[in-house]
Amino acid sequence: MNIKDYLELKRLEVDHFLDHVAPAAAVHPLTLHESMRYSLMAGGKRIRPILAIATAEAVGSSPPGLMAVACSLELIHTYSLIHDDLPAMDNDDFRRGKPTNHKVYGDAMAILAGDALLTLAFDLCSRPDLMKRCPPERQVRLIQELAHGSGNLGMVAGQVLDIEAEHRDIDLPTLQNIHKHKTGMLIRAAVRMGAIAAGATDRQLDDVTGYAEDIGLAFQIADDVLNVTGTREELGKNPNTDAERGKKTYPAFYGVEGAKRLADECVTRAIDRLHAFGTSADALRDIARYITSRKN
Ligand code: IPE
Ligand code: IPE
Ligand code: MG
Ligand code: MG
Repeated sequence: MNIKDYLELKRLEVDHFLDHVAPAAAVHPLTLHESMRYSLMAGGKRIRPILAIATAEAVGSSPPGLMAVACSLELIHTYSLIHDDLPAMDNDDFRRGKPTNHKVYGDAMAILAGDALLTLAFDLCSRPDLMKRCPPERQVRLIQELAHGSGNLGMVAGQVLDIEAEHRDIDLPTLQNIHKHKTGMLIRAAVRMGAIAAGATDRQLDDVTGYAEDIGLAFQIADDVLNVTGTREELGKNPNTDAERGKKTYPAFYGVEGAKRLADECVTRAIDRLHAFGTSADALRDIARYITSRKN
Protein backbone atom coordinates (compact mmCIF):
# COMPACT_ATOMS: atom_id res chain seq x y z
CA MET A 1 0.00 0.00 0.00
CA ASN A 2 1.39 3.43 -0.83
CA ILE A 3 1.79 5.93 1.99
CA LYS A 4 -1.07 8.17 0.86
CA ASP A 5 -3.53 5.27 1.04
CA TYR A 6 -2.02 4.03 4.31
CA LEU A 7 -2.40 7.43 5.99
CA GLU A 8 -5.94 7.82 4.69
CA LEU A 9 -6.99 4.34 5.87
CA LYS A 10 -5.50 4.82 9.33
CA ARG A 11 -6.92 8.34 9.60
CA LEU A 12 -10.42 6.98 8.97
CA GLU A 13 -9.96 4.28 11.63
CA VAL A 14 -8.72 6.86 14.13
CA ASP A 15 -11.59 9.24 13.32
CA HIS A 16 -14.08 6.43 13.76
CA PHE A 17 -12.69 5.48 17.16
CA LEU A 18 -12.49 9.10 18.34
CA ASP A 19 -16.08 9.65 17.30
CA HIS A 20 -17.04 6.61 19.37
CA VAL A 21 -15.16 7.61 22.56
CA ALA A 22 -15.76 11.38 22.51
CA PRO A 23 -18.76 12.41 24.58
CA ALA A 24 -21.87 13.01 22.48
CA ALA A 25 -22.75 16.65 21.97
CA ALA A 26 -26.21 15.87 23.42
CA VAL A 27 -24.73 14.89 26.81
CA HIS A 28 -24.60 17.53 29.57
CA PRO A 29 -22.79 19.89 29.93
CA LEU A 30 -23.82 20.50 26.35
CA THR A 31 -21.57 23.42 25.45
CA LEU A 32 -18.48 21.71 26.84
CA HIS A 33 -19.10 18.55 24.84
CA GLU A 34 -19.98 20.47 21.69
CA SER A 35 -16.80 22.49 22.04
CA MET A 36 -14.63 19.38 22.62
CA ARG A 37 -16.07 17.70 19.54
CA TYR A 38 -15.78 20.90 17.49
CA SER A 39 -11.98 20.82 17.66
CA LEU A 40 -11.46 17.08 17.93
CA MET A 41 -13.53 16.15 14.89
CA ALA A 42 -12.37 19.09 12.75
CA GLY A 43 -10.13 16.90 10.62
CA GLY A 44 -6.52 16.82 11.81
CA LYS A 45 -3.95 14.62 10.09
CA ARG A 46 -3.92 12.21 13.10
CA ILE A 47 -0.19 11.74 12.66
CA ARG A 48 0.49 10.95 16.34
CA PRO A 49 -2.01 8.06 16.62
CA ILE A 50 -0.90 6.80 13.23
CA LEU A 51 2.71 6.80 14.43
CA ALA A 52 1.73 4.72 17.46
CA ILE A 53 -0.08 2.22 15.23
CA ALA A 54 2.72 2.06 12.65
CA THR A 55 5.31 1.52 15.40
CA ALA A 56 3.31 -1.38 16.84
CA GLU A 57 3.19 -2.83 13.31
CA ALA A 58 6.97 -2.41 13.01
CA VAL A 59 7.45 -4.36 16.25
CA GLY A 60 5.16 -6.95 14.78
CA SER A 61 1.91 -7.05 16.68
CA SER A 62 -1.53 -5.55 17.00
CA PRO A 63 -1.78 -5.45 20.79
CA PRO A 64 -4.91 -5.11 22.91
CA GLY A 65 -5.90 -1.50 23.55
CA LEU A 66 -3.72 -0.11 20.76
CA MET A 67 -6.48 2.11 19.38
CA ALA A 68 -7.28 3.61 22.80
CA VAL A 69 -3.59 4.25 23.40
CA ALA A 70 -3.17 5.81 19.96
CA CYS A 71 -6.23 8.02 20.30
CA SER A 72 -5.23 9.24 23.76
CA LEU A 73 -2.36 11.03 21.99
CA GLU A 74 -4.78 12.80 19.65
CA LEU A 75 -6.86 14.00 22.62
CA ILE A 76 -3.75 15.53 24.21
CA HIS A 77 -2.66 17.01 20.89
CA THR A 78 -6.07 18.61 20.26
CA TYR A 79 -6.12 20.09 23.76
CA SER A 80 -2.64 21.53 23.14
CA LEU A 81 -3.83 23.15 19.91
CA ILE A 82 -6.90 24.72 21.55
CA HIS A 83 -4.73 26.23 24.29
CA ASP A 84 -1.93 27.15 21.84
CA ASP A 85 -4.41 29.28 19.85
CA LEU A 86 -5.75 31.22 22.85
CA PRO A 87 -5.23 35.00 22.93
CA ALA A 88 -2.82 34.59 25.87
CA MET A 89 -0.68 32.26 23.77
CA ASP A 90 -0.42 32.46 19.95
CA ASN A 91 -3.72 34.31 19.52
CA ASP A 92 -4.71 32.53 16.31
CA ASP A 93 -8.21 32.61 14.92
CA PHE A 94 -8.13 29.80 12.35
CA ARG A 95 -7.31 26.10 12.88
CA ARG A 96 -8.09 22.88 11.01
CA GLY A 97 -9.96 24.93 8.43
CA LYS A 98 -12.34 26.52 10.94
CA PRO A 99 -12.43 29.42 13.41
CA THR A 100 -10.45 28.49 16.53
CA ASN A 101 -12.28 27.05 19.52
CA HIS A 102 -12.18 30.26 21.59
CA LYS A 103 -13.52 32.28 18.63
CA VAL A 104 -16.65 30.14 18.68
CA TYR A 105 -17.09 29.22 22.34
CA GLY A 106 -15.15 31.97 24.16
CA ASP A 107 -11.88 31.78 26.08
CA ALA A 108 -13.29 30.18 29.22
CA MET A 109 -15.00 27.30 27.39
CA ALA A 110 -11.92 26.77 25.19
CA ILE A 111 -9.74 26.44 28.28
CA LEU A 112 -12.21 24.00 29.82
CA ALA A 113 -12.61 21.97 26.61
CA GLY A 114 -8.81 21.64 26.55
CA ASP A 115 -8.75 20.59 30.21
CA ALA A 116 -11.44 17.98 29.57
CA LEU A 117 -9.69 16.54 26.49
CA LEU A 118 -6.46 16.26 28.47
CA THR A 119 -8.25 14.39 31.23
CA LEU A 120 -10.15 12.18 28.80
CA ALA A 121 -6.83 11.02 27.34
CA PHE A 122 -5.93 9.41 30.66
CA ASP A 123 -9.43 7.98 30.98
CA LEU A 124 -8.98 6.24 27.63
CA CYS A 125 -5.69 4.57 28.60
CA SER A 126 -7.07 3.37 31.90
CA ARG A 127 -10.57 2.18 30.96
CA PRO A 128 -10.91 -1.57 31.63
CA ASP A 129 -13.21 -2.13 28.64
CA LEU A 130 -10.87 -0.44 26.14
CA MET A 131 -7.65 -1.84 27.62
CA LYS A 132 -8.87 -5.41 28.17
CA ARG A 133 -6.03 -7.97 28.09
CA CYS A 134 -3.29 -5.34 28.26
CA PRO A 135 -0.97 -6.56 31.04
CA PRO A 136 -1.35 -4.13 34.00
CA GLU A 137 2.38 -3.37 34.23
CA ARG A 138 2.49 -2.46 30.57
CA GLN A 139 -0.60 -0.30 30.96
CA VAL A 140 0.99 1.73 33.77
CA ARG A 141 4.10 2.22 31.62
CA LEU A 142 1.93 3.51 28.78
CA ILE A 143 0.14 5.98 31.01
CA GLN A 144 3.46 7.21 32.38
CA GLU A 145 4.82 7.73 28.85
CA LEU A 146 1.77 9.80 28.00
CA ALA A 147 2.17 11.92 31.14
CA HIS A 148 5.88 12.43 30.56
CA GLY A 149 5.50 13.38 26.90
CA SER A 150 2.69 15.83 27.61
CA GLY A 151 3.61 17.43 30.89
CA ASN A 152 5.98 19.84 32.57
CA LEU A 153 9.09 18.16 31.15
CA GLY A 154 7.44 17.40 27.80
CA MET A 155 5.12 19.35 25.53
CA VAL A 156 4.12 21.89 28.18
CA ALA A 157 7.81 22.64 28.85
CA GLY A 158 8.21 23.37 25.13
CA GLN A 159 5.22 25.68 25.11
CA VAL A 160 6.69 27.59 28.06
CA LEU A 161 10.07 27.94 26.35
CA ASP A 162 8.33 29.02 23.13
CA ILE A 163 6.36 31.78 24.86
CA GLU A 164 9.44 32.95 26.77
CA ALA A 165 11.42 33.20 23.52
CA GLU A 166 8.97 35.55 21.80
CA HIS A 167 10.64 38.78 20.60
CA ARG A 168 13.97 37.56 21.91
CA ASP A 169 17.12 36.99 19.95
CA ILE A 170 17.48 33.30 20.81
CA ASP A 171 20.35 31.13 19.59
CA LEU A 172 20.05 27.90 17.64
CA PRO A 173 20.44 25.46 20.56
CA THR A 174 17.60 27.29 22.33
CA LEU A 175 15.36 26.98 19.27
CA GLN A 176 16.22 23.31 18.91
CA ASN A 177 15.33 22.75 22.56
CA ILE A 178 11.96 24.47 22.08
CA HIS A 179 11.14 22.24 19.11
CA LYS A 180 12.40 19.13 20.86
CA HIS A 181 9.87 19.72 23.61
CA LYS A 182 6.83 21.49 22.17
CA THR A 183 6.43 19.08 19.26
CA GLY A 184 9.09 16.42 19.72
CA MET A 185 8.07 15.05 23.07
CA LEU A 186 4.51 14.07 22.11
CA ILE A 187 5.73 12.49 18.87
CA ARG A 188 8.34 10.64 20.91
CA ALA A 189 5.61 9.46 23.29
CA ALA A 190 3.48 8.31 20.34
CA VAL A 191 6.23 6.12 18.92
CA ARG A 192 7.32 4.78 22.28
CA MET A 193 3.74 4.00 23.32
CA GLY A 194 3.17 2.06 20.11
CA ALA A 195 6.38 0.12 20.78
CA ILE A 196 5.62 -0.55 24.46
CA ALA A 197 2.04 -1.62 23.69
CA ALA A 198 3.44 -4.11 21.17
CA GLY A 199 5.95 -5.53 23.67
CA ALA A 200 9.13 -4.13 22.10
CA THR A 201 12.53 -5.23 23.40
CA ASP A 202 14.77 -2.58 25.03
CA ARG A 203 16.87 -2.47 21.88
CA GLN A 204 13.83 -1.94 19.66
CA LEU A 205 12.55 0.76 22.01
CA ASP A 206 15.91 2.59 21.81
CA ASP A 207 15.92 2.41 18.02
CA VAL A 208 12.39 3.77 17.59
CA THR A 209 13.04 6.46 20.21
CA GLY A 210 15.95 7.73 18.11
CA TYR A 211 13.71 7.63 15.04
CA ALA A 212 11.01 9.59 16.90
CA GLU A 213 13.40 12.29 18.09
CA ASP A 214 14.64 12.87 14.54
CA ILE A 215 11.21 12.98 12.92
CA GLY A 216 9.91 15.18 15.76
CA LEU A 217 12.44 17.85 14.90
CA ALA A 218 11.78 17.41 11.17
CA PHE A 219 8.05 17.79 11.81
CA GLN A 220 8.41 21.14 13.57
CA ILE A 221 10.96 22.45 11.05
CA ALA A 222 8.42 21.57 8.33
CA ASP A 223 5.73 23.40 10.34
CA ASP A 224 8.01 26.47 10.47
CA VAL A 225 8.65 26.27 6.73
CA LEU A 226 4.94 25.89 5.93
CA ASN A 227 4.23 28.91 8.12
CA VAL A 228 6.31 30.90 5.60
CA THR A 229 5.41 29.14 2.34
CA GLY A 230 1.88 27.76 2.85
CA THR A 231 -1.50 29.33 2.18
CA ARG A 232 -4.47 29.49 4.52
CA GLU A 233 -6.38 27.12 2.23
CA GLU A 234 -3.61 24.51 2.22
CA LEU A 235 -2.79 24.77 5.91
CA GLY A 236 -6.25 25.23 7.39
CA LYS A 237 -4.56 27.81 9.62
CA ASN A 238 -3.17 31.28 8.95
CA PRO A 239 0.37 31.52 7.50
CA ASN A 240 3.06 34.07 8.45
CA THR A 241 2.01 34.10 12.09
CA ASP A 242 5.48 33.24 13.45
CA ALA A 243 7.04 36.41 12.03
CA GLU A 244 4.08 38.48 13.19
CA ARG A 245 4.48 37.23 16.75
CA GLY A 246 8.25 37.67 16.75
CA LYS A 247 9.02 33.94 16.83
CA LYS A 248 12.47 33.04 15.62
CA THR A 249 12.13 29.80 13.66
CA TYR A 250 14.35 27.59 11.46
CA PRO A 251 13.70 29.61 8.27
CA ALA A 252 14.80 32.74 10.19
CA PHE A 253 18.17 31.07 10.87
CA TYR A 254 18.71 29.15 7.65
CA GLY A 255 16.28 30.52 5.07
CA VAL A 256 13.50 28.34 3.68
CA GLU A 257 15.79 26.17 1.54
CA GLY A 258 18.34 25.72 4.34
CA ALA A 259 15.60 24.75 6.79
CA LYS A 260 14.17 22.22 4.32
CA ARG A 261 17.62 20.69 3.88
CA LEU A 262 18.01 20.32 7.63
CA ALA A 263 14.60 18.66 7.91
CA ASP A 264 15.59 16.24 5.13
CA GLU A 265 18.78 15.38 7.03
CA CYS A 266 16.70 14.57 10.12
CA VAL A 267 14.52 12.28 8.01
CA THR A 268 17.53 10.42 6.60
CA ARG A 269 18.90 9.97 10.13
CA ALA A 270 15.50 8.76 11.35
CA ILE A 271 15.27 6.12 8.62
CA ASP A 272 18.83 4.95 9.39
CA ARG A 273 17.76 4.25 12.95
CA LEU A 274 15.36 1.60 11.68
CA HIS A 275 18.00 -0.56 10.02
CA ALA A 276 17.44 -3.46 12.44
CA PHE A 277 13.79 -3.62 11.37
CA GLY A 278 12.69 -5.35 8.18
CA THR A 279 9.81 -4.49 5.92
CA SER A 280 7.46 -4.30 8.91
CA ALA A 281 8.87 -0.79 9.48
CA ASP A 282 8.21 0.41 5.92
CA ALA A 283 5.24 2.51 7.03
CA LEU A 284 7.47 4.28 9.58
CA ARG A 285 10.04 4.95 6.85
CA ASP A 286 7.36 6.35 4.55
CA ILE A 287 5.86 8.50 7.31
CA ALA A 288 9.32 10.01 7.91
CA ARG A 289 9.54 10.97 4.22
CA TYR A 290 5.97 12.28 4.22
CA ILE A 291 6.75 14.65 7.11
CA THR A 292 8.93 16.89 4.96
CA SER A 293 6.91 16.56 1.74
CA ARG A 294 3.52 17.41 3.25
CA LYS A 295 1.58 20.53 2.27
CA ASN A 296 -0.29 20.93 5.55
C1 IPE B 1 0.34 21.27 14.46
O1 IPE B 1 0.26 19.87 14.50
C2 IPE B 1 1.05 21.77 15.66
C3 IPE B 1 2.40 21.25 15.82
C4 IPE B 1 2.76 20.63 16.90
C5 IPE B 1 3.40 21.46 14.79
P1 IPE B 1 -0.28 19.04 13.25
O2 IPE B 1 0.38 19.56 11.99
O3 IPE B 1 -0.16 17.60 13.54
O4 IPE B 1 -1.82 19.49 13.20
P2 IPE B 1 -3.15 18.68 12.86
O5 IPE B 1 -3.37 17.74 13.99
O6 IPE B 1 -2.96 17.97 11.56
O7 IPE B 1 -4.22 19.73 12.79
C1 IPE C 1 2.31 24.17 18.41
O1 IPE C 1 3.37 24.86 17.91
C2 IPE C 1 2.82 23.21 19.43
C3 IPE C 1 1.77 22.73 20.31
C4 IPE C 1 0.48 22.96 20.16
C5 IPE C 1 2.18 21.94 21.43
P1 IPE C 1 3.05 26.09 16.96
O2 IPE C 1 2.36 27.16 17.71
O3 IPE C 1 4.33 26.44 16.29
O4 IPE C 1 2.08 25.39 15.91
P2 IPE C 1 0.94 26.01 15.00
O5 IPE C 1 1.68 26.61 13.85
O6 IPE C 1 0.15 26.97 15.83
O7 IPE C 1 0.12 24.83 14.56
MG1 MG D 1 2.66 27.97 19.64
MG1 MG E 1 0.57 28.17 17.33
